[in-house]
Amino acid sequence: MKGSITRWLCASLLVLCPGISPLTFAADLPLQAYTRYATPLSGEWKIIVDPYENGYYNYRYEPFDQQEKPSVNAFFTDSKPKLPSDLIEYDFDKAASLQVPGDWNTQQEKLYYYEGSVWYRKTFAAPAAKKTDRQFIYFGAVNYRADVYLNGKKLGVHIGGFTPFHYEVTGKLKAQGNSLIVKVDNKRHADAVPTLNTDWWNYGGITREVKLLNVPHTFIRDYRLALTSLAQKTVSGSVMLDGAKGGEKIQLRLPELNIKQTLKADKNGKANFSFTVPNAQLWSPENPKLYAVTISSGKDTLTDTVGLRSISTQGKQLLLNGKPIFLRGISVHEEYSATGGGRVKNAKEAQTLLSWAKELNANFVRLAHYPHNEDMVRLADQMGLLVWSEIPVYWTINWKNEATYQNAEAQLSAMIERDKNRAAVIIWSLANETPVSDARNQFLGRLAKKARELDNTRLLSAAMEKHYRSDNSNIAVVEDPLAEIVDMVSFNQYIGWYDGLPEKADKVTWEINYNKPVFISEFGGGAKKGYHGDTNTIFTEEFQAHLYQKSLTMIDKIDGFVGTSPWILADFRSPRRLLNGIQDDYNRKGLYSEKGEPKKAFFVLKDFYDKKQKSTQANQ
Ligand code: GCU
Repeated sequence: MKGSITRWLCASLLVLCPGISPLTFAADLPLQAYTRYATPLSGEWKIIVDPYENGYYNYRYEPFDQQEKPSVNAFFTDSKPKLPSDLIEYDFDKAASLQVPGDWNTQQEKLYYYEGSVWYRKTFAAPAAKKTDRQFIYFGAVNYRADVYLNGKKLGVHIGGFTPFHYEVTGKLKAQGNSLIVKVDNKRHADAVPTLNTDWWNYGGITREVKLLNVPHTFIRDYRLALTSLAQKTVSGSVMLDGAKGGEKIQLRLPELNIKQTLKADKNGKANFSFTVPNAQLWSPENPKLYAVTISSGKDTLTDTVGLRSISTQGKQLLLNGKPIFLRGISVHEEYSATGGGRVKNAKEAQTLLSWAKELNANFVRLAHYPHNEDMVRLADQMGLLVWSEIPVYWTINWKNEATYQNAEAQLSAMIERDKNRAAVIIWSLANETPVSDARNQFLGRLAKKARELDNTRLLSAAMEKHYRSDNSNIAVVEDPLAEIVDMVSFNQYIGWYDGLPEKADKVTWEINYNKPVFISEFGGGAKKGYHGDTNTIFTEEFQAHLYQKSLTMIDKIDGFVGTSPWILADFRSPRRLLNGIQDDYNRKGLYSEKGEPKKAFFVLKDFYDKKQKSTQANQ
């Protein structure tokens, strides 16, 4: 208990006193929120677009929230004139509104390109609660920086656009008329994670759900459960109480497996467990079996569903539940723009994207280039899709800046803590196409160590790059210090698109000298749906299909080839794709158009996967 409170206090202190420099990042303590009943705070929020951060700084550019008594012109005070002569230059009640969850770029035409601050306000009544209950406000994600205030008081600052965070608000709520205000700032920064340049749209806003949790004084804050020995069919893990004195009883049940364990919390509120499940069905894409889990202690009960599986490597083989598996993958951005939207904003949109992957006969999705929303990962658990999950350590991050590292590590920790119980997730990825240097190797080496400390039940990887041998430009090589520390050697290659024409793939052979599985995390090329021509005409469906044919033939010959996640499932918005009439703000490498229309290359990849599935079934 002491440990977790101290960590919690440190976490909240760090974010409550933004004056601490250098700006440090608190890895958000986990809070199992997804399956808990909660008061939804999503829906309509009032907004004020504030490009000059007029509601945050006074005219001397001093933050209002560091003043003893903030001015009524600080937007987070949500002030109203008391006298007709009072000068207050904002009014949330008369302001426009946006839907939460959702990015602002695709909700209001004038915000399509906006990069700056938008103030959001939600007013709400506190739910009925026992005097001893505790309340937490939970955010699924806010891109990119969130300054959060409740009833005029700062709760904290969160940085990182794709991971959950929360604040305890016990004793801070009013029966009626609570004012929750969030200053959301999606400006890009060289020292941020990601940095200035990305090949995806910088969707700003409260892009995932917000909810108010009401829990007993002593509640189940977190748990971890996994199959830790395939041979012995052993399940191990732990339960973490918050508010415990030590000695509390905890009941753990998996009814379908006749598991009923009574545990006892130690002085920190933690209890470990381990048991065998000889008759358990192992989770796999073919049989995504999930078991109901119920954890109860005192007045609190937490329910969830978990799959039991093992993932490992043996030399160049990738093993799921001890058997070789081929990853029939596809890369996916968290964007559903078929109906004009941007960021995926609900489970239905998430389900649509993953069903497109299933149509491809995929058994694996690379959720690029940042942790996707929790619906995506939980649906993958249910639909039998293995998952590669990654943090946006993308391209030219500022490797030498400690605050940048702390930010990356906080995002890594939050990603792992949120999804550590999802069987579908088999790979944590540290980086994408990062240029090799000593500073980068050190930065990623620290991240890898942290990832293994947090979770040694999954594999580590990263999307690396290839180059050609200096003495033979037809021999492609993957040589990267990062390959020494990850479990699977993954790399992106664009022969036929950025690197020669598709026919070049006929001549290239590969040298990848690591005794590890080899995974091609990206290849592909662009095509505008409905644009037809010969296989030499770029951006036609025929060119893209031809590129896929050539690429698949080439990579299928690579020794240790265990799968691929071509770039990408569907066309997606990017400020780097400006070719009128073809791209029009979209990266066209999708196998589907943004409206979900399959292109010719879709059928090339599906055919390859159908054949792979048959051949791997035949070998089992
Ligand atoms: C890169 C990068 C992607 C990008 C893609 C492209 O490999 O990883 O984020 O969208 O290539 O150029 O389309």
